[in-house]
Amino acid sequence: MQMPQIPQPTYYIFKCEQSSPPGMPKPSCVNAETGGLFNHIGMTLMQKGLMGPVQLIRTSCLGRCQQGPVMLVVGQNDRFMYANLTVEKINRIIDEHIKGGMPVTEYLIPEQFWGEPQVIN
Ligand code: FES
Repeated sequence: MQMPQIPQPTYYIFKCEQSSPPGMPKPSCVNAETGGLFNHIGMTLMQKGLMGPVQLIRTSCLGRCQQGPVMLVVGQNDRFMYANLTVEKINRIIDEHIKGGMPVTEYLIPEQFWGEPQVIN
């Protein structure tokens, strides 16, 4: 049986949607102020005609809670972790990185929190 080809997205956006219960000492990416960011990303991608070339994925903790809200943008050959997200930062990332192909370097997670990949033995 011949299967039809399914086009791959150009980018995957993994948005951390982890929310800690009130009183937890560790911060999490979703709280009362940041709870709308995932929907904002989705709406903006839709309005700009980017759903399809971009696949938005809701994830749990990405291990960078102190710099949250975070999202990981995965392209064909690279990946970028954006930190301390706001609506304004997301708008710029979508325009400059997703549409324009140029990562917004000043919003990337600081180097000390985003080291080399761990070696699998
Ligand atoms: S809660 Fe988002 S990275 Fe940990």
